[in-house]
Amino acid sequence: MRIVVGITGGIAAYKAVGVVRGLVLAGHDVHVVATEAALKFVGRPTLEAMSRNLVHTDLYDGVAEVRHVALGQSADLIIVAPATANTIAKIAAGTADDLLGTTILASTAPLVLAPAMHTEMWSNAATVANIATLRERGVHILGPASGQLTGADSGLGRMVEPDELVAAALAIVGPRDLAGLRFLVTAGGTREPLDPVRFIGNRSSGKQGVAIARAAAARGAEVLLVVANIEDADILNGIAAGGGIEVQEVSTTAELRDAVHAASPAADVVVMTAAVADYRPETVAEVKIKKEVAGDTLDLHLVRNPDILKELTGARPAGQTIIGFAAETEPDRDALLELGRAKAARKGVDLLVINRVGWSEGFGTERNAIIVVSGAGDIVAEAEGLKDAVAHCILDLVPDLRSSP
Ligand code: C5P
Repeated sequence: MRIVVGITGGIAAYKAVGVVRGLVLAGHDVHVVATEAALKFVGRPTLEAMSRNLVHTDLYDGVAEVRHVALGQSADLIIVAPATANTIAKIAAGTADDLLGTTILASTAPLVLAPAMHTEMWSNAATVANIATLRERGVHILGPASGQLTGADSGLGRMVEPDELVAAALAIVGPRDLAGLRFLVTAGGTREPLDPVRFIGNRSSGKQGVAIARAAAARGAEVLLVVANIEDADILNGIAAGGGIEVQEVSTTAELRDAVHAASPAADVVVMTAAVADYRPETVAEVKIKKEVAGDTLDLHLVRNPDILKELTGARPAGQTIIGFAAETEPDRDALLELGRAKAARKGVDLLVINRVGWSEGFGTERNAIIVVSGAGDIVAEAEGLKDAVAHCILDLVPDLRSSP
């Protein structure tokens, strides 16, 4: 989505950096329109680095491309964060004396405001009337929250936290075609301990699974996200309580299995994105394995882990949709498809998402390339792009799947 983030001149402008970052991490094309006052609080280079686009301020820049209306016309969503009392008054009055004003007036996209000001300003009759006017016009007002304000005082007036704002704003614009469905999504990779300090693991970063959870929540689903060993904190950034996603952390395959079996009976859709270890050490050493004791070679005896996905499809409650993943290193497309088709049949899933992984593909990267096959082995979708976009392509298949007998 193309999103304009308007930043106005309040102390909370520093929080706008988190908003911009959250939106970019969620895969959106973010364009910042900052008022002159906003740039006294937060620097242009920071905003340009975070948004990965130029920051716009001046009504008289880019006149040839009619920027004063082009930004608003091309936006799918406008978020003003923080929205000061002054900017709220200007938007309510339809003032167009700066770039943010013209951008908002020229846009038909949903408008989200995150007010931030002192309690007295928020409860002033003028602001109350302006907010009422804007709400009547369909503007979404998120917050303010209550808590410590800039000075010694505290009360209503804090800007909502960036993660919460991003989740709520995206939920407003997304299609709500998964509303009422409960999703169970696994993400990351399981680890099997050898001793108290070592494990056998895999290179799954958790990005694709988290992207699926986010996308499902944005489309109205209630999501339980079971995460195994997601090390990069940025990947879970933006997942706020109240944003429709509950996170449960596990590490080993046994823990993932317990979590999945506990939640699966209540789930309408299960998406097993996690890379689950196929084998685990038969015994786990109580103390660190010493080379002085083990000698020049160390034999590890591994035993098979249960196939959780197969267990799920074997005990599937009526009407449940189950989606599995296959990470394959096969370079030939036809051979890759053959592997995927055989796996879809063997596992008994409704959809199998095949992705090619290798030393530089799939794992840990921002992008993914997938082929989705049905349980019968037909290709039902193909996608290549940011993991968030790929997530939406997979979820696009769910409503049809659930309505077909
Ligand atoms: O057989 P393979 O490991 O390639 O299957 C991958 C799919 O099966 C993924 O959806 C993964 O989450 C799931 N899986 C599982 N239990 C295992 C191994 C894989 O649920 N022990």
